[in-house]
Amino acid sequence: MTLASRLPAILQAVMKGLPKALQDTHYPQWHHAPVTGLMNDPNGFTWFAGRWHLFYQWNPLAADHKYKCWGHWSSADLVQWRHEPLALMPDEDYDRNGCYSGSAVDNAGRLTLCYTGNVKFDDGSRTAWQCLAVENSDGGFDKVGPVLPLPAGYSGHVRDPKVWQHEGVWYMVLGAQDLHKQGKVLLFSSANLHDWESRGEIAGHGVNGLTDAGYMWECPDLFPLDGKHLLLCCPQGLARRAERFLNVYPAAYLVGDFDYASAKFNHGELNELDAGFEFYAPQTALAPDGRRLLVGWMGVPDGEEMLQPTREHGWIHQMTCLRELTLKNGKLYQQPIAELAQLREAEQRWQGEASLAPGLEAKRLELQIELSGELGIHFGGGLTLEVTGQGITLQRPGLATGEPLYRYWHGKVSSLQILCDSSSVEIFINHGEGVMSSRYFPQSSERLSFNGESEVTLRYWSLRSCMIE
Ligand code: FRU
Repeated sequence: MTLASRLPAILQAVMKGLPKALQDTHYPQWHHAPVTGLMNDPNGFTWFAGRWHLFYQWNPLAADHKYKCWGHWSSADLVQWRHEPLALMPDEDYDRNGCYSGSAVDNAGRLTLCYTGNVKFDDGSRTAWQCLAVENSDGGFDKVGPVLPLPAGYSGHVRDPKVWQHEGVWYMVLGAQDLHKQGKVLLFSSANLHDWESRGEIAGHGVNGLTDAGYMWECPDLFPLDGKHLLLCCPQGLARRAERFLNVYPAAYLVGDFDYASAKFNHGELNELDAGFEFYAPQTALAPDGRRLLVGWMGVPDGEEMLQPTREHGWIHQMTCLRELTLKNGKLYQQPIAELAQLREAEQRWQGEASLAPGLEAKRLELQIELSGELGIHFGGGLTLEVTGQGITLQRPGLATGEPLYRYWHGKVSSLQILCDSSSVEIFINHGEGVMSSRYFPQSSERLSFNGESEVTLRYWSLRSCMIE
């Protein structure tokens, strides 16, 4: 049964919402953001038939989490993007409470979406179907329907299929919660994307020696990188550690060895993927040249998200920039993709004591800093970064109380690459050894200023605006 179409209401929301969003000084100039309403997880990030595709969780009707569609952008070069037809709407019984997150694959030349149909019942319980949809000749997607019901032994929280092919077999990881309210990652395999066989739990609470690992793991992504396998995941309910995992829900990664034959993933400890205030639900894609690229949601569910001021302009949230992943000495490095250098305008340089450095316009800015001592950077008053011998402290006022909130990165800092866009800052530490991604909402102009006695070498570029066509 098809539920009544919300397309007329979506069209009206976009027509009314887009001008309001574009008037907002906080609206990104070169990052992905919703034209109206709420955007959360990146979905279906993939290279297919000569173009990049990036789908996203989108409620076009309001800046809240109620009505989840899949929006769709595509790009030839990862810099200039264009809007594609709305890919999925929650209009079938099996996805009526949301077309939840998932991935996209090239199935013998047909772009195929694997997503979760989320269904909530009146008694508060829920179920989840893993579903397929296939691209049609209009650039839209025809739903195939569910291919995997809720597996036995798990609560209704089983979602976010990440699907890939290995030696002719399809594999899928799913985020899950078992009946003891423990978070897990499940593995399935299939010959045809339709019939799936359980291969067991590959990670989570109680698996592989992990304890206190939370009640639900969302958005898993398993892939090879530099001779190892990485599992990205979002373990909800993780105990906070000293100055780590401080967000309401963290994004984390495990490094290990994955064996297809036994479906076993031997891994080390959970690491924080990004130490900033806003980062969640990342997804990766393999580029044709072999690079592993990542995009994340620069937001976190629950917490203070609904207090962000952009909601007054009818929109909320943005993606991170696209990043390239590498592994060095067992540690994940993230760096902005090389293509982003195309956004740079004329290069400027400055050298001297930090406190004497010129203030910079931070609306659209890339700033590279070589430093040898202590340094402070104020971003338009709303966000402060402090570098000490121990690492980095990021501070900003909480949106609820105005009290200062802190995030930390530990280690010796010798270089920073900082990307600013209207209301976001991404700080890459020591060429990607650490990253801190955060939103901030400057009241007036976005200028950043420096203090501290460190000798610094600055290279910086104003970035060109690159709105989605
Ligand atoms: C993560 C998440 C996913 C889910 C989607 C719904 O942010 O909760 O687990 O599929 O968002 O929008």
